[in-house]
Amino acid sequence: MNAAKWSFLLCATVSAVICLCIYITSKVKRPVPQGWKFDCAECGDYPDELCTALFQGKAAALVLGAECEQIHRPEATGGRPVNCSRLLASHSYITETLSQEEADFPLAYILAVHKDLDTLEWLFRAIYTPQNIYCIHVDNKTSEGFRQGVQGLADCFHNVFLASRSEKVVYGGFSRLQADINCMEELVLSQVKWKYVINLCGQDYPLKTNRELVRFLRSRWKNKNITPGIVQPEHMRHRTSHVHREYISPGQSYVIKTQKRKAGGVPHGLKLYFGSAYYVLTREFVNFVLTDQRAKDLLQWSRDTYSPDEHYWVTLNRMADAPGADPNAEWEGNVRSIKWLDQAQVNHNGCKGHYVRSICVYGLGDLEWLAQKDSLFANKFEVNSHPLVAQCMERWLRPKTLSQSEVPIQQGWHIKNNKCFFDIENNDCSIPLM
Ligand SMILES: *[C@@H]1O[C@H](CO)[C@@H](O)[C@H](O)[C@H]1NC(C)=O
Ligand SMILES: *[C@@H]1O[C@H](CO)[C@@H](O)[C@H](O)[C@H]1NC(C)=O
Repeated sequence: MNAAKWSFLLCATVSAVICLCIYITSKVKRPVPQGWKFDCAECGDYPDELCTALFQGKAAALVLGAECEQIHRPEATGGRPVNCSRLLASHSYITETLSQEEADFPLAYILAVHKDLDTLEWLFRAIYTPQNIYCIHVDNKTSEGFRQGVQGLADCFHNVFLASRSEKVVYGGFSRLQADINCMEELVLSQVKWKYVINLCGQDYPLKTNRELVRFLRSRWKNKNITPGIVQPEHMRHRTSHVHREYISPGQSYVIKTQKRKAGGVPHGLKLYFGSAYYVLTREFVNFVLTDQRAKDLLQWSRDTYSPDEHYWVTLNRMADAPGADPNAEWEGNVRSIKWLDQAQVNHNGCKGHYVRSICVYGLGDLEWLAQKDSLFANKFEVNSHPLVAQCMERWLRPKTLSQSEVPIQQGWHIKNNKCFFDIENNDCSIPLM
């Protein structure tokens, strides 16, 4: 061989070694858990290991997870007609009551929704049980397609209904409060002997199983209502001192504060509180809200205030003689974990997803934080912008739910391979893929 050939061979060998090195370091750079055969094209096949690493906040998992979310962008399913048997099978709905304890303690839910059927359905399949009852208030402003989609979902279950009176809901407006009341009026007529009602929006997700919720309410709260809040602080007074009006126009609606001062004081001299719009209320308290003259007068008085759902429930629940009242309570109750923008670095580590209206929509980097929270629910989620977050939450909650069951677990209750989640229409997910 001549010199040229030798140098060519040397060059080729060196290149091969360099390539091998790059290949190996690119593999080694990802400290994946042992036995984790991870390839982004196959995200769907290895979500359990990936989710575990994400809940531990492992940096490599965050990088890989982000790649996965880029590759598997789900498309919104929109208001397609629902095939119920297919929906129940493919989304692993739990179709039996899992314990006597839960059978003896049914819950009612109010879901106020206005968009994003996929996120709603993801939430719904996490909270659905046959012994509970669910009222869904669909914003009167939403598209007919969305309403039909929600109706299609509700029609698959005997214990789910749409509120028959639907408000045009304005953020921060009275209509938001009225929406809950509409559902309550129908829920109190229900044959289901529900003990507590919980309100949710379409972007919440449970951090507790149904059984854990029941235990929490039975042991810690014992017929008391949970309405986190404090005496109305000075900087919130503008919400109730002036007349506010809702404006609704196509594409945009809002509440404005007028110059006009609200005449007269709070009815019956009630002391106003300020707190969370989210609550857990006993059935007796709901009956009280719908029939007590003071409650009814406070409701009428609240019509032109700002965000009255943030004073109405807590004010009534601080009255000494309301059923299940808790006059001395403050923020306790842990109904929601929310990352507020103005609380960043104060009581949370910042939002790793994105903010909407100063509230964090959770991203992959928030999973570690979420797993450590002890609250009943967390807000907000968007299945289509953070599909792996949704996947991981579901794969974290469902095994917990099943492990607490007293009845034999049906094969179909285990969460299916995530290809079903990403591409429900093209996979026959009714056949277990495992
Ligand atoms: C619903 O889906 C099931 C299972 O995939 C199928 O057998 C049935 O024909 C479908 N029903 C309708 C009305 O399309
Ligand atoms: C929606 O609002 C209109 C009035 O603007 C009302 O006639 C209709 O009944 C409402 N829809 C529902 C479901 O309540």
